[in-house]
Amino acid sequence: TGMTTLDPGFGNTASCSSEITYIDGAAGILRYRGYPIEDLAVGATFLEVAYLVIYGELPEPAQLKEFSDKLRENAGIPDDMGALIDAMPRNGHPMSLMASAVNTLAAYYDDSVDPSDEEQVELATIRLMAKLPTIASRIYRNSIGEKPINPDESLDYVENFIKMTFGDGAPEGELGDLFNKAVGMLLVLHADHELNCSTATVRVVGSSQADIYASVASGINALSGPSHGGANQAVLEMLEEIRDSGISIDDFLERVKAREMRLMGFGHRVYKNFDPRSKEIKVLASQILDRDENPDELFKLALKLEAAALADSYFTDRKLYPNVDFYTGVIYRTMGFPTNMFTVLFAIGRLPGWVAHYREQLHDPAFRIARPRQHYVGASERRYPGASDA
Ligand code: CMC
Repeated sequence: TGMTTLDPGFGNTASCSSEITYIDGAAGILRYRGYPIEDLAVGATFLEVAYLVIYGELPEPAQLKEFSDKLRENAGIPDDMGALIDAMPRNGHPMSLMASAVNTLAAYYDDSVDPSDEEQVELATIRLMAKLPTIASRIYRNSIGEKPINPDESLDYVENFIKMTFGDGAPEGELGDLFNKAVGMLLVLHADHELNCSTATVRVVGSSQADIYASVASGINALSGPSHGGANQAVLEMLEEIRDSGISIDDFLERVKAREMRLMGFGHRVYKNFDPRSKEIKVLASQILDRDENPDELFKLALKLEAAALADSYFTDRKLYPNVDFYTGVIYRTMGFPTNMFTVLFAIGRLPGWVAHYREQLHDPAFRIARPRQHYVGASERRYPGASDA
């Protein structure tokens, strides 16, 4: 062990080579397969970006249609699986229920669990992408005591998810179009982020030759924590707490600086400058939340909190800036998603990244089982009472 370097949280260890996502954390640059995130966020649909991330190139129109058709055809889940989801605790956290449901896909579709068979991996890719929104919306419908809504093959990916979630309550007309566009853009901004905790988890689990469903279910679990994807829920809860307790923003930041709590939605392991995703999301938030002369109160609070933190040397000295999770919650809330569904939306967005990394790893000539080393700091040899002295 004298040969190994201690690197808590793998902050300095590159564990693979990858062609998927480029990040320059000092400059605030993010690109999927070479394409800047700003261009994709404005110009591309989520399915185009999912295709790009997974297969490496933007799809030709015919390829996109084929991909989209396959997802529409595979969006349903078996009745047995629906019944299984319906039997899960209705007030359980949707991330926990979703990870469990995704884990069972390997059992319902055991013809697509062999990582050494490319056709099986491709089939599982389509099934995961197609079924995750169906699973997520069913969990939501159960949580509010409403009947599930089956996927509608005539709708596109994002529209279908919104319809399965809200049914007749889905916004229509101009507002409906705005919401579809906004959800699509948020999914694009979440599609991949190289070796974040959940994607690293998918790779680690996949490195043992576990199937892709097991690996993605593990990724969902890793995403659920408040230091990672669960931060979008934690940000909204923080804003509500500030509003409800009446604490001033300055006093709240003093508590953060005294290390009683973290400022959720701030800070990042890699970005030491603005998170480029948060810039796009802030623009989107003002489009959605400033529609009338009565802007959303939590959005206003978030703007003030951000400004106060950025004017404080505690945060600027540590290069703590708003990350992707800072403004997403206020947008999702306005759309009618309950707080505990926010991280589920993150998972639907991140799925292409998880799948792409799992697949890339299978073809990596340097592929081998993930097995970090440790520095042992425990007791030296001891005698069990009564053991012989041999
Ligand atoms: N509020 C207050 N102080 C912070 C924060 C924060 N959000 N984040 C980091 N710090 C301080 C930390 O106390 C430390 O200060 P010091 O050097 O004086 O001890 C310094 O900044 C460096 O922090 P770190 O813990 O070494 O940073 P890390 O790279 O290990 O952690 C992080 C990254 C994202 C887990 C962390 O910034 C954090 O907990 N943020 C809040 C949760 C959050 O918003 N997570 C979402 C991340 S982005 C997208 C995603 O993954 O979902």
